[in-house]
Amino acid sequence: MNDLTPEREERSANLKGLGCSRKRVEDARFTQGKGNYVDDVKMPGMLHGDFVRSPYAHARVVSVNKDAALALDGVVAVLTAEDLAPLNLHWMPTLAGDKQMVLADGKVLFQGQEVAFVVARDRYVAADAVELVEVEYEELPVLTDPFESLKSDVVLREDLAGQTTGPHGPRKHHNHIFTWEQGDETATNQVLESADVVVEESMYYHRTHPCPLETCGCVASMDKVNGKLTLWGTFQAPHVVRTVASMLSGIEEHNIRVISPDIGGGFGNKVGVYPGYICSIVASIVTGQPVKWVEDRMENLMATAFARDYWMTGKIAATKEGKITGLHCQVTADHGGFDACADPTKFPAGFMNICTGSYDIPVAYLAVDGVYTNKAPGGVSYRCSFRVTEAVYFIERMIEVLAIELDMDAAELRRINFIRKEQFPYQSALGWEYDSGDYHTAWDKALKTVDYDGLRKEQAERVEAFKRGETRTLMGIGLSFFTEIVGAGPVKNCDILGMGMFDSCEIRIHPTGSAIARLGTISQGQGHATTFAQILASEIGLSADSITIEEGDTDTAPYGLGTYGSRSTPVAGAAAAMAGRKIRAKAQMIAAYLLEVHDDDVEFDVDRFVVKGVPERFKTMKDIAYAAYNQAIPGLELGLEAVSYYDPPNMTYPFGAYVCVMDIDVDTGVPEIRRFYALDDCGTRINPMIIEGQVHGGLTEALAVALGQEIAYDKMGNVKTATLMDFFLPTAWEVPNFETDHTVTPSPHHPIGAKGVGESPHVGGVPCFSNAVQDAFRAFGLRHTNMPHDHWRIWQTANDLGLHE
Ligand code: CDP
Repeated sequence: MNDLTPEREERSANLKGLGCSRKRVEDARFTQGKGNYVDDVKMPGMLHGDFVRSPYAHARVVSVNKDAALALDGVVAVLTAEDLAPLNLHWMPTLAGDKQMVLADGKVLFQGQEVAFVVARDRYVAADAVELVEVEYEELPVLTDPFESLKSDVVLREDLAGQTTGPHGPRKHHNHIFTWEQGDETATNQVLESADVVVEESMYYHRTHPCPLETCGCVASMDKVNGKLTLWGTFQAPHVVRTVASMLSGIEEHNIRVISPDIGGGFGNKVGVYPGYICSIVASIVTGQPVKWVEDRMENLMATAFARDYWMTGKIAATKEGKITGLHCQVTADHGGFDACADPTKFPAGFMNICTGSYDIPVAYLAVDGVYTNKAPGGVSYRCSFRVTEAVYFIERMIEVLAIELDMDAAELRRINFIRKEQFPYQSALGWEYDSGDYHTAWDKALKTVDYDGLRKEQAERVEAFKRGETRTLMGIGLSFFTEIVGAGPVKNCDILGMGMFDSCEIRIHPTGSAIARLGTISQGQGHATTFAQILASEIGLSADSITIEEGDTDTAPYGLGTYGSRSTPVAGAAAAMAGRKIRAKAQMIAAYLLEVHDDDVEFDVDRFVVKGVPERFKTMKDIAYAAYNQAIPGLELGLEAVSYYDPPNMTYPFGAYVCVMDIDVDTGVPEIRRFYALDDCGTRINPMIIEGQVHGGLTEALAVALGQEIAYDKMGNVKTATLMDFFLPTAWEVPNFETDHTVTPSPHHPIGAKGVGESPHVGGVPCFSNAVQDAFRAFGLRHTNMPHDHWRIWQTANDLGLHE
């Protein structure tokens, strides 16, 4: 164009803004052991808490004798429900509008439930004292199956006896929590009755657990002189914790400071409020000393928030040619002993009503029944947005089952039912407005890259060779196409305990042209300090290297709803862009004044404002920042700061196309993943390197869930998978190479067009791995078998199909 072009490109590259694979600024401290986690917080006189937990899944607590524990040298206190009751803190509200015992009040409802809190001078003494607390239990009948629970005379929640209505409407039975219905049941049933083809399938999405590397914990420090409570914790939503702590304790909110330091993974596990937080606060208030509570791995797996546990039955109607005409979905959701699901208030089953997936389904109906059982409470979105992974697994299995029924290719069946590009914004039958998408382009790219037709040919040859006895290995081709829904709000639809789901960014430019930005979110490893700075760099024209990002301290960060459900980019990322634009608007006025032209006669150019048509006359953002503090400009306040509270107009709808090629040894049940291809579309890409890392992580967790990870209970309610010996956490040994790819379909309503990405690979990955296993046996008559597909279950499937004879 002109000789300024190369210089412009160079200036742009120097910003390290949008689209740059900027190295993660956090990693210098993480890789050198300089991270600062909750357990690194050490204070003079700090005490340590530990829980006495129930060995029974359902039992009456007859008595608790603390004497021996209190007599142990170094023990300071032992708290029980009786001690908390006068403070009205023996029960606490859950995020789902239910209430939960902080310490066992009369009975216990799940194995591992908190019964007493021991406070001692060190962690070892606390653990020894736990053993000395004598609790007498009287065993009660145990219900671990939600269907039995709904028929049983045993009343699990005696505190709710006689209540026929709960926070989400009528209760049909004393162990029933709610029924949540979406869509048009009558119209759906009519379609099902008159359709050419109807298939019905039931599937269980088993209970699992986010299992972050760092378990949950906190340090509570009550400064009685100044009346200030400081709480460090592994919180994914620090501001919400502050508000809830204020409501529960009566301490005014300005006197509570919540700090989330570095967090070693959250995946939904660190959203809710746990008894450990309440007990630590009470213990600090009572003793006047700081109190630390950090759970161990078994406690984390047994007693903190689980994920999934959905029993789903689907009916799908279609024409003979495979055009889907209706969908019916009935879910029985096992919520454990208390309803502590972390969902926006109006969505007691989260966003399960995204279960029509990526398909243009004219009519649909969804009903979810929540049920109490003798299992741990939780129901969090483990690396997904509020039950989206259940929804996507459901529809992607239903599509496979329909393909079997119609004797059609499952890729083609998807293609003919995809929502078409020109249908966006698309109104789904279950109430969502999908913002943007181009599914056919993504699907075609994926299938072409993996040579789908060639793979199917090879698979057919393998089946023939197997039948001739020439091989004992079958080949599965797993397909999945998913649409995620991420970025809760909008405030009018989404709140948690009445707190609207927006997010925020506050930015302060320093006179020398560097900046600090604070946000209401909190990174747990996603690299926010790297990527939020990139958004701002492109918006305000200062290098990302000159912008500090700070999150997680409620005394300094603006109020926000935190990080989960891939909401950081769609909501706080948008707030960052909007705050950046406010800075730019003021900078434009300053530049015009300095250049002695009208405001409209300057325009933004990467890192400066130039006089229109005279590019050699400009002021850089650094010049402008200096002037903002040092020059009296008529009509303008000094300083250069901005804040944005962003209420998103809609969610964002990232999508993706995944293919998995798997070889399965029929005699051992061992699957070997030969190829995994993942195409993700998350709109505008902020940092491609970080996106790739997010995809690798999400796929690894998807592999875990599909192929073995499970929280399993026996009939007595014992957790059978409470250690990492039994709970499958994949290592480099099990994880294959992942090929990543992308298309870019920006969100039309997000300021920079970005959609979330962190959870997509998990959402799309689980059905893809599962479909690969099941597809390997399609030629031998398998229609559906439940996850997790561990070696034993795969072997069993082969055996059931007569492949070992
Ligand atoms: O809420 P959470 O941070 O878990 O998820 P996210 O918003 O999907 O972002 C995960 C990471 O990927 C962040 O560092 C984002 O900045 C980055 N990302 C990106 O580079 N481009 C996108 N379009 C979306 C996310």
